[in-house]
Amino acid sequence: MVREVVILAIESSCDDTSAAVIRNETILSNVVASQKVHEAYGGVVPELASRAHQQNIIPVVDVALKRAGVSRSEISAVAFTRGPGLLGSLLVGTSFAKAFALALGVPLIEVNHLQAHVLALFIREPGMTDRADASQAAPAPAQATTSLSAATQSADMPPVAARTAAIPPISAQSATPAPAQAATSAPAQAATPAPAQTATSAPAQTATSAPAQAIVSGPVYRVPSFPFLCLLVSGGNSQIILVRDHLHMEVIGQTIDDAAGEAFDKCAKVMGLPYPGGPYIDKLAKEGNPHRFPFTKPAISGLDYSFSGLKTNFLYFLRDQLRENPGFIEQNKADLAASLQKTIIDILLQKLTRAAKETRIRDIAIAGGVSANSGLRNAIQAEAQKRKWNVFIPKFEFTMDNAAMIAIAGYYKYLRGEFAGQDAVPYSRTHL
Ligand code: KG4
Repeated sequence: MVREVVILAIESSCDDTSAAVIRNETILSNVVASQKVHEAYGGVVPELASRAHQQNIIPVVDVALKRAGVSRSEISAVAFTRGPGLLGSLLVGTSFAKAFALALGVPLIEVNHLQAHVLALFIREPGMTDRADASQAAPAPAQATTSLSAATQSADMPPVAARTAAIPPISAQSATPAPAQAATSAPAQAATPAPAQTATSAPAQTATSAPAQAIVSGPVYRVPSFPFLCLLVSGGNSQIILVRDHLHMEVIGQTIDDAAGEAFDKCAKVMGLPYPGGPYIDKLAKEGNPHRFPFTKPAISGLDYSFSGLKTNFLYFLRDQLRENPGFIEQNKADLAASLQKTIIDILLQKLTRAAKETRIRDIAIAGGVSANSGLRNAIQAEAQKRKWNVFIPKFEFTMDNAAMIAIAGYYKYLRGEFAGQDAVPYSRTHL
């Protein structure tokens, strides 16, 4: 019989503290505590992020293990994000993972955050069924669409009652930073989350009991075939990746300046929207005219991207309009958002289409936080119909920073015996 591998994974590269448990490829729990403290500053404040990680990490891991219904003795290895990311934030996750692995006497696995975003495509949920011709099948319902309400952390988090008890309310810290109190009170209460209440987070509950029935009627476990192309778009990256196998990836195009997510966030900031602005632009864009304002598209050779020109163009355009009419943004925000979003999507898809042509690959995926964008998801599906691509989009909760993707990456590394030593240190920058 094939041995079951259970991985506990930790993600703390930026401003989300997350822990997940996976059994082979099937995710059992994925808990994310987002840090609202940064909203007041219009961007992530590294020092505040690492402090919040310190407060969150124990209760988040505790809830993840309880939801998964997994005891510590069942854990085969502990995986953690080693980089890239904010050093202080990474240090918290790395130190916790090292200590936990040492205490349990199990191997430690370091994971590259970017690789994990791509591997999120391979996360299996309880109840999914196998099909031999899976790559030709229609997308499983779970992968189809997203909505802004799903963009909140509620789907990832413990139920409200359990959430407030188990995880320090990060948003409250922005008003009264009281790390000590929040941290000390949380772990004890974390013991209470009742699985029966976790209506919004099915994986944990169904994990232990569902597989037998699920094989008959669940959504299809649908993954791309190697080699495939993945457009990785997040707050820090915009890359076209040629994925040869789970752990062998090659960047064939990337941004030479800003990332797509940064363009969304910075332009949103200029419009006075909260941070991170991507989801707000997405929501506003649904009501606006995408053809109203033609913004600049870069002329960059090859498969590389550039978004800094668009950012500057957007900024100067608004500055000029505001001189004439101080109410310009308010009166045109939906059209501004729709036009900006269309420009970013056009830029992304132009190079992706070219990469697909050049490599003759038709299995195309998107990953990373910006892949949550509903306009991008629709545009890539439309492109797929036209070009006969098989498109793969991770389920919404696995597109943002989350430990489930670290867990699946950890699983593949475990199978290859790729373990890290206790001397592993985080890195802020790295390549695939
Ligand atoms: O992958 P991610 O969670 O974090 C890293 O950068 O690693 O990506 C965050 C980025 C932010 O720039 C955020 O604005 C963007 O993803 N984002 C979106 C949407 N949801 C998140 N951008 C556009 N539309 C969205 N719906």
